[in-house]
Amino acid sequence: MRRLAPILVALLALAAAGARGQTGAPGEVVYDPFVPTPHRIVEQMLALAEVGPGDLVVDLGSGDGRIVIAAAQQFGARALGVDIDRSLVAEARERAARAGVAGRTRFVARDFFATDLRDATVLTLYLLPETNRKLLPKILAEMKPGTRVVAHRFALGDWPPDRQLMVDAAEDWSATAATRWVYLWYVPAQIGGEWEVTREGGVAFRLDFAQAYQNLGGKATNGTATETLDRGVLRGSEIRFIVPGAAPFAGDYAGRVDGDTMSGDLNGGARWRAVRRKTR
Ligand SMILES: C[S@@+](CC[C@H](N)C(=O)[O-])C[C@H]1O[C@@H](n2cnc3c(N)ncnc32)[C@H](O)[C@@H]1O
Repeated sequence: MRRLAPILVALLALAAAGARGQTGAPGEVVYDPFVPTPHRIVEQMLALAEVGPGDLVVDLGSGDGRIVIAAAQQFGARALGVDIDRSLVAEARERAARAGVAGRTRFVARDFFATDLRDATVLTLYLLPETNRKLLPKILAEMKPGTRVVAHRFALGDWPPDRQLMVDAAEDWSATAATRWVYLWYVPAQIGGEWEVTREGGVAFRLDFAQAYQNLGGKATNGTATETLDRGVLRGSEIRFIVPGAAPFAGDYAGRVDGDTMSGDLNGGARWRAVRRKTR
């Protein structure tokens, strides 16, 4: 019960802060409180992100280290935890040592806004909506296309999740049953702007992509015919869009983005290739 009381207080603080956003005097820095993710949800988050031995999992605001430890112990990944609270970082290191995963885990005491995310392949979050919103531009700027972000309970601003799962939040049979959402996103390649497309045995044309996270709109034109793109979507670096209508370049395009080029198959057959001309 002595261990439950601070958790209950923090849980209430998180619930209240989640409802009204972060508070504090003007200019005062208020950090999200420590509230642990139930162990069962930790497992579901890591399973949803398909964490494996090739991954580097980074938990922003790692608390007692449970996500980092589970990523190493149950999923074979390397993992890094970052927390502003030194005593939590010390506790997490002790727990990792006791779990036998000190060699594959690392904990640092630091503000996560100052943490470089470029090497992370999976990012885990249990933070307030406002903190998630502030982290979003950093995540999109630093994480590589195809890397995964998984969040417990609160979404990431207006970025639509690629998958979401409702999970049972009760720690054991005696706890009050409750459900929570867990969200998964694939960081999309940034492709907004103009591209020049060539394809086997067909006319060349220009694509002008308008990108909103993983969703793509825009136009395709060869100067004579112009079509509005249909069902454009990215999953990391994988791209798919349809040029509808009767234009000579109409069809179902699937392929892969690689920096300033992309290539793939048209209608599952002829090859196509595109080169970036202008960034939006
Ligand atoms: C809700 S708890 C989540 C703990 C853990 N990730 C989990 O899911 O069990 C949020 C954690 O973020 C930490 N935190 C809040 N703001 C932070 C910041 N700016 N930089 C680093 N850690 C922060 C808090 O100390 C707290 O441990």
